[in-house]
Amino acid sequence: MDKCAKIDRAIRSYYQAPLVSPRLVEAILYSVEAGGKRIRPLILLNILEGFGLTLTEAHYQVAAALEMIHTGSLIHDDLPAMDDDDYRRGRLTNHKKFDEATAILAGDSLFLDPFAVLAQADLKSEILLALIKELSQASGTFGMVGGQMLDIEGEEKSLSHKQLYAVHSNKTGKLLAFSFKAAGLIAEQTLTVLDQLWQAGLMMGTAFQVRDDILDLTADFDELGKTPNKDLRAEKSTYPSLFGLDRSYQILEESLDQATAIFKDLQENTDFIPDNIIEIIERLRLHA
Ligand code: IPE
Ligand code: IPE
Ligand code: MG
Ligand code: MG
Ligand code: MG
Repeated sequence: MDKCAKIDRAIRSYYQAPLVSPRLVEAILYSVEAGGKRIRPLILLNILEGFGLTLTEAHYQVAAALEMIHTGSLIHDDLPAMDDDDYRRGRLTNHKKFDEATAILAGDSLFLDPFAVLAQADLKSEILLALIKELSQASGTFGMVGGQMLDIEGEEKSLSHKQLYAVHSNKTGKLLAFSFKAAGLIAEQTLTVLDQLWQAGLMMGTAFQVRDDILDLTADFDELGKTPNKDLRAEKSTYPSLFGLDRSYQILEESLDQATAIFKDLQENTDFIPDNIIEIIERLRLHA
């Protein structure tokens, strides 16, 4: 079984009968099982292996918790009151397939259930506590949700570079950065290494949202699995709208290069084996 299948199994196993509401779980699994790149859990798992750990069920439970929060954020991001999208991961969005109330509740579940998934993972309690705190901070008021608020407040306005960075680093960067730091916490790395992982994660967060903004303009429905050109229509501030496409491609390259440099440095100064994480970073490159 490959890593993606094991991540999916860890999510599904939380939703075993007897269920309070089968319809709620049907809606949750509809969005989870639509797929997606699973980049956040794959980063976490590949960094753990880079630190020499053999993957266990507990590691897959942490990966599952992270992907659940991300999927919940997509369901809410697509709601009519948010970005109002009809397609996601190549399927109708959750509120189109079910209804708005069900989509709101499926998102709520995917924000709260992960903390029980995490809490039951067989890891040392001080590691679990740190993971629970970091995941909440990366996702909530001080992370993704805060950034989504800035994103909505920024519609129809032209934001400064600093303001745009605040939107991107919060709505996307911090949850991505959790993938990196969580691996360091589980592998019991020093504070210096944890800080390097967080910095690499933030670079990747910038890269990832700039890439998403470029693709919104340049890719088609089949590549995206979601409707293209949405940012223009909603008058979102994006890197392409602020700097143009050419400079956005450069910012993507530079951010990926900086993240790679951190992993090369880790390789020199610790026993870290960077090959798999560098391969994931390389897959994010786009060429103008
Ligand atoms: C899309 O995330 C939303 C952003 C944070 C840019 P992904 O591009 O990781 O979406 P999936 O999980 O592959 O569908
Ligand atoms: C979403 O950013 C970030 C989230 C926290 C979900 P976008 O609104 O650009 O993501 P897409 O393009 O709809 O996937
Ligand atoms: Mg959005
Ligand atoms: Mg959106
Ligand atoms: Mg987008």
